[in-house]
Amino acid sequence: MIKNIKKIGVLTSGGDAPGMNAAIRAVVRTAVYYNLEVIGIKNGYDGLIQNKFITLKNYSVSDIIQKGGTIIKSARSEEFKTAEGMQKACDNLTNAEIDSLIVIGGDGTFTGANEFGKKYDFPIIGLPGTIDNDLFGTDFTIGYDTALNTVVDAIDKIRDTAYSHNRLFFIEVMGRDAGFIALRSGIAGGAEDILIPETETHIDNLIHKLEHDWRHNKKSGIIIVAEGDDAGGAYEIAQKVTEKFKNYKTRVTVLGHIQRGGSPSCMDRVLASTLGYEAVKALLNNKRDVMVGQKNNKIVFTPFAEAIKHHQDINRDMLEMARILSL
Ligand code: F6P
Repeated sequence: MIKNIKKIGVLTSGGDAPGMNAAIRAVVRTAVYYNLEVIGIKNGYDGLIQNKFITLKNYSVSDIIQKGGTIIKSARSEEFKTAEGMQKACDNLTNAEIDSLIVIGGDGTFTGANEFGKKYDFPIIGLPGTIDNDLFGTDFTIGYDTALNTVVDAIDKIRDTAYSHNRLFFIEVMGRDAGFIALRSGIAGGAEDILIPETETHIDNLIHKLEHDWRHNKKSGIIIVAEGDDAGGAYEIAQKVTEKFKNYKTRVTVLGHIQRGGSPSCMDRVLASTLGYEAVKALLNNKRDVMVGQKNNKIVFTPFAEAIKHHQDINRDMLEMARILSL
């Protein structure tokens, strides 16, 4: 059914990502330009169920483009997965006369949006907001670039002390199911090896590489471990290595949630602004149930079902290059 869009609800859901505020700002300002009302829904889908609605005007989003986190907060909602939760959300939207939604988040967010949109014939547009970069239908997600810069900065600092003390560091980065953060930050940080969930990790191969490095007078180094690696987390992998190869003195650093915070990079601010702007225009052009992304510098719309079904492939050539460059 074609609806006349008048009042847009916007929410952020799942793990927060730097640039979400820039996206909210773009949604609000574009909507105001087109004489639409915008309601901010607090705490992701939980706020839809609990009626946590706030009116957003053009001035409500002043001074946030540079801020990390999300001014309307985020959550991973269990209740929205239930039929009762969805019904409450639908009733609250109807009562508030909100006729469309823009949801900013990752695959969990789009799974919910896909189900809700179809069940209630409700227009929803998604924006890819996750540091993991694990969505199909966009080259980069909002927050990924900033997270990478945070990780690379940490690697550089750790490398200083690793060198001074002749130590091998295992640095764990985020990415439960995806190695995108690990791969790019590992290349940029000149890591000795990069262990990611998309490829099988063989501890013996890693030891073989470390023995080679040791023989060639590398007395310190960095191994990047994505948190979802099949051989375990950084602590586990460090232990498995040192049990068999004792030459290196090892240390482990788990970067954790520091990767999710901070002022968004220029790349993330521009991406978030562009996608937020396009999301409002997409609703007005009667697009529904799609994620708006950017591929090869062009705006593309991907049905939610596609965006969550598979994420883009890890670039194996980049992995091979990283191994060659770490000789
Ligand atoms: O989805 C983003 C992400 O940061 C993942 O990389 C990480 O595994 C997860 O969120 C951590 O989630 P939480 O903040 O709920 O512990």
